[in-house]
Amino acid sequence: MPGITLTHLQKMKVSGEKIAMLTCYDATFAHEASHAGVDMLLIGDTLGMILQGHDSTLPVTLEDMVYHTASVKRGNAGSFIIADLSFMTYSNPEQALYSSGQLMQAGAQMVKLEGGEWLCDSVRQLTRNGVPVCAHIGLTPQSVNMFGGFKVQGRGQQQAQALIDAAIKLEAAGAAMILVEAVPSSVGKALSESVTVPVIGIGAGVDTDGQVLVLHDMLGLSQGGKVPKFVRNFMVGQESIQAALKSYVAAVKEGSFPASEHAYAEQV
Ligand code: KIV
Ligand code: NA
Repeated sequence: MPGITLTHLQKMKVSGEKIAMLTCYDATFAHEASHAGVDMLLIGDTLGMILQGHDSTLPVTLEDMVYHTASVKRGNAGSFIIADLSFMTYSNPEQALYSSGQLMQAGAQMVKLEGGEWLCDSVRQLTRNGVPVCAHIGLTPQSVNMFGGFKVQGRGQQQAQALIDAAIKLEAAGAAMILVEAVPSSVGKALSESVTVPVIGIGAGVDTDGQVLVLHDMLGLSQGGKVPKFVRNFMVGQESIQAALKSYVAAVKEGSFPASEHAYAEQV
């Protein structure tokens, strides 16, 4: 079955068709999600929390990411596969290139890294070597110890502009996608209008070019913990996981998810 490519995703941005993305860590869910029409599967380093029970993404190793990427690849039926570069596996362009090579050989079609314009050299190096890059900006969970917690980013004119400037520089360096986490909806919208590559949001309002959620969160599996404001439990009212996944895709495509209750306002 011919799969979704970067070209398709770029065309979706231009035509205004919303891109539906979910995290995925294994073959069974890759099979379910790809058959439900999820456009992109992200092997997120959230697997550190979701699968391994850690309280952050920092303990996740490159080997962990390679293992889960290979598992997703085997179950996938045509979705576009993105894998996260985990903490301390892309500290300079050479290390980024080595780590990304491992993920691409395991089945990734794009890698995602967290941070701003200081990553431009690595983005250029990867792109030159045939590795498409998604730059994750806004709330970047690998920097939780710098932020002093999981906090909304991009509030206020200056911070919002800094994110937009970073996205423009990352695109110029070759980034083929931007992912933005936990920012006011106005910032998600401005970002999508400021770059020509697709902007995927999580907690960034309805106006980004696409949406992503953590799979287990949207299936209502929270280990008894608190889920972020931007999550909807798509199992509610559904009789199967397949139906819940399909209803997520439909809600993203028609723009009914995220709704206003999932959004962050400009002021606290
Ligand atoms: O690791 C992850 O799951 C992510 C998403 C939350 C975007 O980076
Ligand atoms: Na991640």
